[in-house]
Amino acid sequence: SGDPRLIVISNRVAVPKARGAAGAQGGLAGALHAALKDRKGLWFGWSGQESESGRTGHIDTQTNDGVTTATIDLSQRDIDEYYTGYANSTLWPLFHYRLDLAEYERETGKGYERVNERFAELSAPLIEPDDVVWIHDYHLIPLGERLRSRGIKNRIGFFLHIPWPPTRLFVSLPYHERLVRTLLYYDVVGFQTQEWLDSFLHYCENELRAEVDETTGQVSFEGRTTFARAYPIGIDWDQFSKLGQTGQARQAQQRLMSSTRRRLAMIGVDRLDYSKGIPERIDGIGRFFDRNPESIKDLVFIQIAPPSREDVESYQAIREELERKCGQINGARSEVDLVPIRYVNRGYSHAELFGFFRGSKIGLVTPLRDGMNLVAKEYVAAQDPEDPGVLILSRFAGAAAQLQDAVLVNPHSPDDIAHAIKTALDMSLAERKRRYEQMVVTVRDDNVQNWTADFLRDLSQPA
Ligand code: G6P
Repeated sequence: SGDPRLIVISNRVAVPKARGAAGAQGGLAGALHAALKDRKGLWFGWSGQESESGRTGHIDTQTNDGVTTATIDLSQRDIDEYYTGYANSTLWPLFHYRLDLAEYERETGKGYERVNERFAELSAPLIEPDDVVWIHDYHLIPLGERLRSRGIKNRIGFFLHIPWPPTRLFVSLPYHERLVRTLLYYDVVGFQTQEWLDSFLHYCENELRAEVDETTGQVSFEGRTTFARAYPIGIDWDQFSKLGQTGQARQAQQRLMSSTRRRLAMIGVDRLDYSKGIPERIDGIGRFFDRNPESIKDLVFIQIAPPSREDVESYQAIREELERKCGQINGARSEVDLVPIRYVNRGYSHAELFGFFRGSKIGLVTPLRDGMNLVAKEYVAAQDPEDPGVLILSRFAGAAAQLQDAVLVNPHSPDDIAHAIKTALDMSLAERKRRYEQMVVTVRDDNVQNWTADFLRDLSQPA
């Protein structure tokens, strides 16, 4: 077709050969794979590997599943400063409202800028005049401005997959203004929800003194204009819902259900990240068992939590905390033939997750803060329409703005979580169906194809 070529640039690339298990990779990789599958284009990013000395600057190009990827290795120092350091020890906690965990170090900030410059240097020669360039997530905020300084005149858009924090928190970042200024070199800047968008526009207006039109999202600054809008990301509905017919999904469901015997399964699937509220969730489950000790024989909670960013200290701490909490509850509540919490540190394929979700009558998605959260949408998509399970969802996940028919909770409150579990267990079939039918329409229609199309339509419009 005559569509322009799409160049996607992100830190994480789902290189097909090495594609991580679904539960481990986060929402970005799956969504970008779907976005590129139906288009001509290229996906540029980090291989996830450390470069052997003397091999820097090499670009590894492969085509698999109809998607061409071009990846580079990074030196250990770059990985430490840019990925482990500034991206995941400074920006990630800050953007998830965790000032207490955010570290500010001059060296990692420099490494972040250096690697963004490196991305620009290596990707610029791959960009042809009619290409549309779409850059993703907090690792690469300055990249658009770096490409501009190399003379790239193409349309360039940016999408942030995580929250944008309120101005009063954001200004604790040293050189915050320098970072935001680079965002205003993009033609379109996208956020997951209206809430994150509002925080961004508030900053532009009040700190940067840019001219902001809140109805159109137009931000004018130093002679340039950028459009800032909300584009809630979705799942690849067609592909995901087909998984229900696979042997892998059926077997996974069977395996789960036969292992729990007559007990009802509740499930959580998250990267092992403090933003996901997993220890708080376990506290809520503990509170539920305290109040309903008889239900120990009727319920089992399965937490799938593949480890993530293991070089960051706060991730090591959360892992220990979680092991302790699961151990405590299991120690106190187990019988010789019955363990209330199953805690699993590995990822599973999408098909297996489909089966686990379908076999679980309650899905617990309780992040303390989350840009969107696609596990919530996958849980809904995997349900049996004739006997759907109940989604318990944090009001602080971006997904809550769309999935108002979930049982919404405050993830910080064990009482609230315990109460929601009780509500879910007592819910009539008619009520479960009513809620499911509302939610499934959103999950089906606000899918990843429409997300891509909406963003690219805005990006392709001449300024
Ligand atoms: C979140 C981020 C993504 C990231 C993913 C997995 O979803 O928004 O950018 O790829 O987590 O984390 P990782 O550090 O393994 O790429």
